[in-house]
Amino acid sequence: MSEPTLKAPFPWFGGKSRVAPIVWEALGDVGNYVEPFAGSLAVLLGRPHAPRVETVNDLDGYVANFWRALVADTAGVIQHADWPVNEADLSARHAWLVSTGKERIERLAGDPDYYDVKVAGWWVWGLCAWIGSGWCSGKGPWVVESGRLVDGRKLPHLGDAGRGINRQLPHLGDAGRGINRQLPHLGTAGMGINRQRGIDEAALYALAARLRRVRVCCGDWSRVCGPSVWRHSKPAGVFLDPPYAQDLRADLYRVETDVSAAVREWAVRAVTDAPELRVVLAGYEGEHAMPSDWGVVAWKAAGGYGSQGEGRGKSNAGLERLWLSPACNAVEGVEAAA
Ligand SMILES: C[S@@+](CC[C@H](N)C(=O)[O-])C[C@H]1O[C@@H](n2cnc3c(N)ncnc32)[C@H](O)[C@@H]1O
Repeated sequence: MSEPTLKAPFPWFGGKSRVAPIVWEALGDVGNYVEPFAGSLAVLLGRPHAPRVETVNDLDGYVANFWRALVADTAGVIQHADWPVNEADLSARHAWLVSTGKERIERLAGDPDYYDVKVAGWWVWGLCAWIGSGWCSGKGPWVVESGRLVDGRKLPHLGDAGRGINRQLPHLGDAGRGINRQLPHLGTAGMGINRQRGIDEAALYALAARLRRVRVCCGDWSRVCGPSVWRHSKPAGVFLDPPYAQDLRADLYRVETDVSAAVREWAVRAVTDAPELRVVLAGYEGEHAMPSDWGVVAWKAAGGYGSQGEGRGKSNAGLERLWLSPACNAVEGVEAAA
């Protein structure tokens, strides 16, 4: 029987909810699933089978803190996320998150039990009210300079991105997004929160329950790709969704690393060493040249941040590809990679 699928309560650039069914068709019901670039966990949450051994990772500490805190103290996260959209709060909380909040979650890497519900709740609240990329990037009316909080409007203008005065309005569209998003209610599979009904606590508790046994790591992708992570339960499946090559996109992540080529090289090598490993690699057309026994399948993304997708995100939406290692199941539309 198919498991109910869940969704993250926030928008994430490059989120893969639309393609999750194809990824799972290709991977099958793997005994061990690894997702080194987890972001909004769209693929893990779209798993149609009962969970088995699962490990996720993201370099962004706010992401890892949110998932850890949600499982450990769902009520605490809800309490801090439950707040109306207010531009002054958006600016002030952003400044707090990139200074005090950032210091607070530095403990994540050293302490496996550590999480911070206030950082988690404010982060997810702001992510849904903020337009486009840049939440928790440190750019805003109040910024942190040399460890001190200063009024960004008094700083000199430094290039096009500007700072301070260049502040943006919070997201005020009818559709809302993520935690404040007006989305169809899908029972317990629905999104966490929306403006009219407030927080859908049941959906957040369902997410917390789903993630109860998921191992959440916070660091570079390569740390969770070693055989010690996936070898013990077979078959193993790895879904690789690195930030796409930076010359192919406009939106940026808070933590940026140019790892697309290194990830491809790892994937080819890993499958040569362990041919039974099922690997699915996401990228844009032409981004990865894979061996001829790999498959490639085209799919269409929403573009950018879902309904907000414009410009480059929208035009890139038709370029999305998944490369499938030889041990993956065949899926409709798959062709030889080379
Ligand atoms: C394309 S997004 C993944 C989206 C995800 N599949 C989803 O559905 O939401 C890439 C993610 O990689 C993370 N990231 C960037 N560099 C990384 C690195 N070196 N190691 C691990 N994660 C990294 C970013 O924070 C971002 O969440």
